[in-house]
Amino acid sequence: MEKIRIGIVGAGNIATSAHLPAYQSCKNVEVSAIADINFNRAKLAAQKYNIPLVFSSVEEMLAGAEIDAVDICVWNNAHSDVAITAAKAGKHILCEKPMAIDFEHALLMEEAVNKAGVIFMLAVPGRFAAPNMMVRELFEKGELGEVYYAKTAYIRRRGTPSGWFTDKKTSGGGPIIDIGVHRIDAAWYLMGNPKPVRVSAATSSKIGNYNTKGVSRWVGTECPDNCFNTEDSGAGVIHFDNGAILFFETSWAINGPEHSDTQICGTKAGVTLDPLTIYGERNEYLSNDILTVAKNDNPFLNEITHFADCVINNKKPRYPLEQAVLMQKMIQGIYDSARLRKEIEL
Ligand SMILES: NC(=O)c1ccc[n+]([C@@H]2O[C@H](COP(=O)([O-])OP(=O)(O)OC[C@H]3O[C@@H](n4cnc5c(N)ncnc54)[C@H](O)[C@@H]3O)[C@@H](O)[C@H]2O)c1
Repeated sequence: MEKIRIGIVGAGNIATSAHLPAYQSCKNVEVSAIADINFNRAKLAAQKYNIPLVFSSVEEMLAGAEIDAVDICVWNNAHSDVAITAAKAGKHILCEKPMAIDFEHALLMEEAVNKAGVIFMLAVPGRFAAPNMMVRELFEKGELGEVYYAKTAYIRRRGTPSGWFTDKKTSGGGPIIDIGVHRIDAAWYLMGNPKPVRVSAATSSKIGNYNTKGVSRWVGTECPDNCFNTEDSGAGVIHFDNGAILFFETSWAINGPEHSDTQICGTKAGVTLDPLTIYGERNEYLSNDILTVAKNDNPFLNEITHFADCVINNKKPRYPLEQAVLMQKMIQGIYDSARLRKEIEL
């Protein structure tokens, strides 16, 4: 097999603005079908991207299209059902973040994937961004030494997405599960994915439902009851079994400067991703090395090309099932800790 045939489920923003443009230049994937419960949306995407088959559910797509894998781009609360249905049909799965709305659903997905023996990969583009790949390589080569401390932030001053994102039953939560997860994952990946053991966190819901003018937002499909019942910011600390800790903070809306920062500290050197700098010592003096990566890096293209390569050559994906489940466990721990106002053992 030189190319896999993929069926996309969900023809909304992430499918049409990131996945489909990337598939256009992906050499080892052919997009064979697209499905959305909003059939018209799927039809428009199919016309624009020349996709031969259009369906209004994953079930119809599995019955009517010859595909090897599904690419799950639906609302968070539909990830588990779609993944389980696809796994039962023997299809490999690329699943947008977050894996599920909660840990319970992630475990159901894990069971179905393991039973079917298909490949599952969580789609988190940060793992396929050149700076992150470069730092992970440094970690693997031991150039950072023992990584024992990290901190990460994804702070939007005003950036609450609209529609279903703010409805907890559809999204599972606010900025922690939506954007914080990108940065927590980046830090965890660059720390070498140690096993999380404890988490302590707090969340707030204060100013996220703002009327501020002159700001833009990611537009999600409208949720039926148009509610806002998630957090709008959160912060905390995750402890790992090797003694390392990771501090995180994230917001959709906060009265402070907008920023994204990730910092990893090891015994031999430390790294910041923004900007990409290595903090070390040379000849017993402090040194700051600024690394350069290609400007035309496309994490989404890297992500789908890697997934297809894993399917074709039966390789373990860079974001494998067990790490996706552990990430969901951390997210669950964060929300449980915030709700119960105490540290949670994972
Ligand atoms: N990787 C990233 O950087 C990134 C960025 C944004 C969103 N996302 C993720 O992508 C996913 C989709 O987000 P979006 O912004 O595209 O939302 P969206 O509302 O624009 O699109 C989601 C689509 O899924 C469809 N859908 C819902 N349930 C379905 C089902 N059971 N079967 C078929 N279709 C169904 C909806 O009709 C809608 O068209 C979410 O999980 C989100 O977290 C990832």
